[in-house]
Amino acid sequence: MKTPLELALSCPKAELHVHIEGTLEPELAFALARRNGIALPHADIDALRAAYDFADLQSFLDLYYACADVLRTEADFHDLMLAYLQRARADGVVHAEIFFDPQTHTARGIPFETVLRGLEAGAAEAREAWGMSTQLILCFLRHLPETDAEATLEAALPFIDRIHGFGLDSSERGHPPAKFARVFERCRALGKPVVAHAGEEGPPAYIVEALDVLKVARIDHGVRASEDPALLDRLAREAMPLTVCPLSNVRLRVFEEMREHSLPALLARGLVVTLNSDDPAYFGGYLGNNLRAVQQAFDFDAATWKTLLGNSFRASFIDPARRAAWLAEVERHFA
Ligand code: ADE
Ligand code: ZN
Repeated sequence: MKTPLELALSCPKAELHVHIEGTLEPELAFALARRNGIALPHADIDALRAAYDFADLQSFLDLYYACADVLRTEADFHDLMLAYLQRARADGVVHAEIFFDPQTHTARGIPFETVLRGLEAGAAEAREAWGMSTQLILCFLRHLPETDAEATLEAALPFIDRIHGFGLDSSERGHPPAKFARVFERCRALGKPVVAHAGEEGPPAYIVEALDVLKVARIDHGVRASEDPALLDRLAREAMPLTVCPLSNVRLRVFEEMREHSLPALLARGLVVTLNSDDPAYFGGYLGNNLRAVQQAFDFDAATWKTLLGNSFRASFIDPARRAAWLAEVERHFA
């Protein structure tokens, strides 16, 4: 008889909150630095890994943007995507909705198309080899002005059919969702679903703004909703998915320990919670390690795991027929 964790690990699942730049492992970072003839700010792999000791979101972002400098060519983005999907597959991921931050690259003179073509090439290889499906979600950097996001949307327009949706990431505090009201309206007018990071470090009011002003289809993180009972009621009533990233939240000190995480409270309120890895190269592991850490803290039963993994498909943007087929698979897996 399998334990609830074994059942969860072997169950087919979707990942809905992963930043492709956050899957850059130190080994690949140094290999790409060598290939491109550039230096990283750390002497070697061990020194870089030793720097993964974060006080908050900003201290992580500073290193994350610095490391992204090794990504220069289409081949680099291909290798990054393929490496992520290979690791995700080992954790039972069959479908991934993947964030990318074009502004991090276009600001360094790398064409939007280079980034997109590389990521797509890696995804195509994983689809052919392993049958994995992927969707790309373009994230705007919220520490930059809305006009920069508008320019990024313009750069994306020639490729709009290849971009599934839009998101909002980077430094949350001081950059409320409403700062991006106009550009998100344009994204929605293009017929694209939109999502936003909210209530990670920022207050519950940012979650409300993401819902009311940006009209998001999912909240990324949203773990601070637990501080606002009225908001919890609303999220439950609207069946608004939260893409929760447990290891990220502990590594970035949103919660000091996993046992203090709001995940059980969110589940108890009946919210559509999904589990995700965020920036797995930096936060101690991919989706499987997130499941292990959660189980160690909370000892969930098989029914709770079935709900969480079913939610990964319920909250996804895959077409309804494939969603129903994967949900039936989850049902069979736990039967
Ligand atoms: N970009 C990459 N990871 C992020 C996170 N956890 N929060 C906000 N922006 C991010
Ligand atoms: Zn994130």
